Amino acid sequence: MNPTPKALLTPWPYPRWIAHRGAGKLAPENTLAAFRLGAKHGFRMFECDVKLSADGEPFLLHDSDLNRTTSGLGAAGRLRWDELSRLDAGSWHSPPYAGEPLLRLEALARWLQANDLMVNLEIKPSPGQEALTGAVVAREAARWWAGQAVPPLLSSFSVEALRAAQQANLGLPKALLLEELRPTWLSEALELGCVAVVLHHPHLNSENMAQAHAAGLKMLTYTVNDAARAQALWADGLDGLITDAVDKLAPDHPSGGTC
Ligand code: G3P
Ligand code: MG
Repeated sequence: MNPTPKALLTPWPYPRWIAHRGAGKLAPENTLAAFRLGAKHGFRMFECDVKLSADGEPFLLHDSDLNRTTSGLGAAGRLRWDELSRLDAGSWHSPPYAGEPLLRLEALARWLQANDLMVNLEIKPSPGQEALTGAVVAREAARWWAGQAVPPLLSSFSVEALRAAQQANLGLPKALLLEELRPTWLSEALELGCVAVVLHHPHLNSENMAQAHAAGLKMLTYTVNDAARAQALWADGLDGLITDAVDKLAPDHPSGGTC
């Protein structure tokens, strides 16, 4: 039988600082160029958004459609990977990144492992694909990280996606993402077998942080770009912080403290 995620994660293996979408806003989000830049700023863990192509390939994209961050148009999930792989996912950001391609989960896994880096895979299903995306991302992540000391942390706003990942029963750690606090947040996280909650930082306080900790869960937050806010949250016992400010709150920057 697979060891439980909690057994795998004692002690908590992830660094405190996590770069949002690779390098926040300094490079085209969710591309390898962004991960390279985040790593250059000292980050050892990255958050990114994963969804499925029409032929079931997990790849990185935040939005449901291609319009904002690629040269394509319309719903991302209607294209096969061979079509998606020809799009330009860098020109929208700035000329130095023109031609930057979309990134498959498989390629991300290779790059992260070659560089001894960690990841939080946010399962970001196209509408109507929640359960399928949760199941496929869990399966492919387990495959691409097999034998690695530190597994990817899977998270999602979608309870359906997390439930499908849970049912895949592959022993990967999961976190419930919350934009707001609902009354059932703690029981939902526990029932889904999560090891952590990732809460939008305006709703985070010492009380809900203590509630998570008392239930045996870690508390992470997104997206904090202010050094004073970060310091206050660390003082309250925060376990992980997702940031866009990779140049200002870098782990090795004086305002960032240690990893
Ligand atoms: O995973 C944390 C954060 O990325 C969730 O919000 O919209 O940036 O994916 P979003
Ligand atoms: Mg995200």
